[in-house]
Amino acid sequence: MTPEEAAAKTWTWLLDDGTASNDWDRYHERLLAVASRRGLRVEDLGPPGHLPLPLLTNNPDAAAAPRILIGSGFHGEEAAGPWGVLAFLESVEDWLLAGVGLTVLPLVNVSGFREGRRFNDLGENPNRGYLPGAEASSREGRILLSHGDRLRDAARDGLLACHEDVLLSHCYVYGMERSDAPGEFSHGLLRANASFFAVHPDGEVDGCPVRDGIVFNHQDTSFESWLLLAGARHAACVETPGQQPIERRIAAQAAMMRFFVAHAAGSA
Ligand code: NI
Repeated sequence: MTPEEAAAKTWTWLLDDGTASNDWDRYHERLLAVASRRGLRVEDLGPPGHLPLPLLTNNPDAAAAPRILIGSGFHGEEAAGPWGVLAFLESVEDWLLAGVGLTVLPLVNVSGFREGRRFNDLGENPNRGYLPGAEASSREGRILLSHGDRLRDAARDGLLACHEDVLLSHCYVYGMERSDAPGEFSHGLLRANASFFAVHPDGEVDGCPVRDGIVFNHQDTSFESWLLLAGARHAACVETPGQQPIERRIAAQAAMMRFFVAHAAGSA
């Protein structure tokens, strides 16, 4: 199957509790429940009359706490990211959460998620067009860009973008750091991913050179490239393999989020 064929296809999985991976109503219910239990503020960045574009923020112990951003569900067929956000928020220790100023975009592309399809209901790619270039922005991208100042501040000390590669059986990570070689930030995320899956062999993945499971300092017009250029300390786009069982992918996504938060808090 080519990437184009994969993007046109509907991808759904059954979670262990019998929920379909594209069940937005159930997803939203669990999101609101965990937000309420953890004292997270929930906002909707979507315009009135549209599907929601939820944003969550916590209330850190100190105003000077590191400010970090997790973004997930840009691509509708990459279900483990959004469900991983729930698994992470439902399990993370209170003390760890309180040590960072955390902003979460748990599910950017709700229309794609509901269909189990990569692009949104307008056929647009919600992870392109954040920077000038040939690729057009999407409805979701324009909403996020309209909150640019806020998202830049939210990602000041780090950004984690959660993705999947539905055609692959191996895991990998795009690491973006202000250095010539991957540091502990990228390596730690890859380690967390690799505790669930075999690492992608050296060579090429999605047209990019990959070494030791890391594509390093790749630039495109994605959300993560935008916020890195806008000043985020470092950024990563993590990829779990869609050919592996959904529950393991969800657990891997949650483990990478936990590492990301612990690393920012100085506890990893
Ligand atoms: Ni993706």
